[in-house]
Amino acid sequence: MKTLRFSNYEELSAYAANEIVQSIKEKPTLTLCLASGHTPLRTAELLVKQLLDEKVDYSRISFFGLDEWVGLPPENEGSCFYFFKTKLFEPLQLPPSQYHLLNAMAEDLDAECKKMDALIDDKGGIDVMLVGIGMNGHIGFNEPGTPFNKFCHIAELDDTTKTVGQKYFKEQTALHQGITIGLGHLMNAKKVFLKADGKRKAEVIQKTVEGDITESFPASIMQQHANGFVIVDEEAASLLTK
Ligand code: GLP
Repeated sequence: MKTLRFSNYEELSAYAANEIVQSIKEKPTLTLCLASGHTPLRTAELLVKQLLDEKVDYSRISFFGLDEWVGLPPENEGSCFYFFKTKLFEPLQLPPSQYHLLNAMAEDLDAECKKMDALIDDKGGIDVMLVGIGMNGHIGFNEPGTPFNKFCHIAELDDTTKTVGQKYFKEQTALHQGITIGLGHLMNAKKVFLKADGKRKAEVIQKTVEGDITESFPASIMQQHANGFVIVDEEAASLLTK
């Protein structure tokens, strides 16, 4: 794992967007997995801009959404689906055949997980993954205590996630479970970027980079990834000692 520091959110976001663009240029059939949330927002905007400006051929990439709130319909503006639809799929005019999101409304959620595991395997695994980090160290909905070798699964959300998660919704929303791509997929991914910005992420970034590697702090798995990059702005890096 390497840690890369950038002076601000804009530079950090541009770096991540450019890394994805270059990966698509190198491998036009790239499998890409992205988180939603506030962290990847600017990267998504810059990614769209760069792909369109440079007329990159992205017609053969496969896109995977990292996670979703269980029970939330895709039209809910706080859903991960809504983020991807408005920030990526619509501006890129990406056809549904190129994107694969976990259906959090599925009657059989376990079958939904198995379907996603099979699909990822079918595509030869994930080439590039860009994830964020929660205030409890989660990645996607891999909550504290999740085995590092787990693939797609349903997670009971912990209290921090339920509370912090309210920021995505206009009204108070009952959040109980998440459906998520697992850390097993992250460890198998060819390249992983964990992006974080702002002072509020400084403590979790310090634990991610310098803390013990433990399932009780899922993001610490990054230390074990041979091609893992923790990419941060100065504020998120402010508690790092090295
Ligand atoms: C959310 C999502 C994660 C996301 C993380 C950080 O709960 N499940 O996929 O990366 O928390 O979110 P944000 O980028 O808004 O800080």
